[in-house]
Amino acid sequence: MKIRAVILAAGQGTRMRSSLPKVLHPILGRPLIWYACEAARQATGTRSVVVIGHGAQQVREALGDTAEFVLQADQLGTGHAVQQAEAILRGKTDLVLVTYGDMPALTAKTLQQLIKTQISHTGPITMLTVVVDDPRGFGRVVRDGTGQVEGIVEEAQATPEQLKIKELNAGVYCFAAEWLWEALSRIPLSPKGEYYLTDLAGLAVSDGLSIQAVQILDQDETIGINTRIHLAEATAILHKRINQAWMLAGVTMIDPATTYIEPGVEIGQDTLIWPNTYLHGKTQVGEGCELGPNTIIRDTSIGNRCTVLASVLEGARLEDDVDVGPFGRLRKGAHLAEGVHMGNFGEVKNSYLGPGTKMGHFSYLGDTTIEGDVNIGAGTVTCNFDGEHKYPTEISKGAFIGSDTMLIAPVKVGEGGRTGAGAVVTHDVPPYTVVVGVPARQIRKIEKK
Ligand code: UD1
Ligand code: CA
Repeated sequence: MKIRAVILAAGQGTRMRSSLPKVLHPILGRPLIWYACEAARQATGTRSVVVIGHGAQQVREALGDTAEFVLQADQLGTGHAVQQAEAILRGKTDLVLVTYGDMPALTAKTLQQLIKTQISHTGPITMLTVVVDDPRGFGRVVRDGTGQVEGIVEEAQATPEQLKIKELNAGVYCFAAEWLWEALSRIPLSPKGEYYLTDLAGLAVSDGLSIQAVQILDQDETIGINTRIHLAEATAILHKRINQAWMLAGVTMIDPATTYIEPGVEIGQDTLIWPNTYLHGKTQVGEGCELGPNTIIRDTSIGNRCTVLASVLEGARLEDDVDVGPFGRLRKGAHLAEGVHMGNFGEVKNSYLGPGTKMGHFSYLGDTTIEGDVNIGAGTVTCNFDGEHKYPTEISKGAFIGSDTMLIAPVKVGEGGRTGAGAVVTHDVPPYTVVVGVPARQIRKIEKK
C-alpha cells in the first residue's frame, strides 16, 4: 500500500508577530516544521509534500530536499490546500496522510495508528480526535446515536448544543486517495470564502461511507503553534520527551529541566549530565562521561570517560579519557587525543593535541600540531596570526614548553625540546635543546632519556 503525507504550511501565522514564517521558528535547534516532516517520514517511509504559501521561499530553503513542495498562492482554506497536492500525487499513492506543519509534538506512532486504522476499514477517512475540556477553537466531532462520526462542525458554525461537544478535530487525517481527490472538488465554498477540508466528513456520510476516528489520549501531541506562548509550551513538551528518552537509555540527569538536548544528539550509557548543560547539533557523547554543570557543547564528538566542566565546545573532537575545564574553550577543529588534560582558561582552535598532552592553565593554541606527551606551561600562546595570515606551530613528542612562552608561528619545537619561562620563540627549536629569552636563544643541549 503506497502512502504519502501532505503537510499544510501555507498559512501566515499572524499571531506570532514575526517577520519569520511561523513554521520556521526554532524548537530545540530545528525549524518547528521539521518535527512534522520527521514524524511523517517515519510513519510513511517517504518524503512529504509540503503545501507552502506565506514565506514559501524561506520554508523551501529550510527544508531543502527533505520534502517536495507545492505552492498555494492564495490561502483559500484547508481543503483547497490539500487540493494543491493532487497534481503531483494523484495516481501515485493509495493513501494520503494530511497533517499540519505547526503541530510539532505529534508523533510518528500516532500517525501510524491512523494509517493502520485506515487500512483495516473500508471507509475513505480516518481522523484524529482529542477529548479535552478547553475547545481551543477546534472543530467539534459530531457523532450519531450509535457513536458513528457524522461530521465535523467548525466552531463558528456550531450550534450552542454542538459547542458543548468535548471531542475535537485535531486536523490530522488519513484518506483513501482516489476518493479524496474526487471529493475535494465537491467541497462547497464556506460563508467565509474558504474550502474546508472538514466538509469531507459530511460528504463521506452522504456518500453512504463510514468515517473512522482514532482518539488520542495524550493531548500534548495535538498542540498547534499559533503564538509564542504555544511555541514555549511545545518546546517544553519536546524537551521533556527527549530527556526522558535519554534517561530511559541510561543517561543520568541531575536536573532534566535545565538539561537541553537537541534532536540528533547521541549519548552513551552511564554518562552523567549536571545542570545547565546544552548539547547542540551533531554532538555525540560516549559512555561514562561527566558533562557540566554550565557547559555548552555543539557539533562535537566526545569519546568514553571524558569530563567536561563549565566549558564551551564547538566543532571539536575528544578521544577517550580527556578532561576539559573548568572554563575551557574548544573551537572548530580542536582535536584532543586520548588522555589529554586541558585545565582552566584554555582555548584551542584547529589544533591536534596528541595523547597524554597536558595544558593546565590559561593558554591559547591555534593551528598547532602536538605529537604527544607534551607539557604546555601556564600562559603559553601560539602567536599564529601576523595580522594578515595564519601560520602553523608544530611541537614534537616529549617537548616541554615553559610558562608564558610565546611561539611565533610558523615555528617548530623538536622532540624533547624545552623553552624557558617567558621565552619568545621566533626560530625552530632543535630536538633536545633548551632555548630561553627574548628572542629565544639556544643555551644548552639536554641528554636524551
Ligand atoms: C482546522 C480545522 C479544525 C481543527 C483545527 C485543528 C478546518 C476547516 N478546520 O481549523 O476543524 O479543529 O484545524 O487545528 O480545516 N492552511 C494552509 N492553507 C490554507 C489554510 C490553512 O496551508 O488555505 C494550513 C495552516 O498553515 C495551518 C493548517 O492549515 O497549518 C490549519 O489551518 P488553520 O487556519 O489554523 O485551521 P483552523 O481554523 O485552526
Ligand atoms: Ca490553527
